[in-house]
Amino acid sequence: MTNNRPFLSDIEELRRRARQDMNRGAITASYALDLTQAVDILNKVLASELVCVLRYKRHFYMSQGLHAEPIAQEFLQHANDEQLHADQVAVRITQLGGAPNFDPAGMLERAASPSTARATRSLR
Ligand SMILES: [Fe+2]
Repeated sequence: MTNNRPFLSDIEELRRRARQDMNRGAITASYALDLTQAVDILNKVLASELVCVLRYKRHFYMSQGLHAEPIAQEFLQHANDEQLHADQVAVRITQLGGAPNFDPAGMLERAASPSTARATRSLR
């Protein structure tokens, strides 16, 4: 199959379209979700991730005993992973025009997983 149009003009058109879409940010014409609902759900995800950070940090600091060091390091890695997830969610919220909720007040209630909130309460 042969295309008679010069390849370079296709690239230029693709670049023009890409720049046009980049100016719109994360919300493109094909974005179909309700933004308020999306940000609300993402803030619940953010709360869950932050609760997980705290839980794994507690496990890290509470690991004791002769063989605790590798276990503590595993908990620390999980805490760092959860912090990365929280950061990624917060970035996405701002991309959608929302505000990430880092307020500790109500965080357990915002957490998407009741078991996460329950587990954290049991670690006090
Ligand atoms: Fe996570």
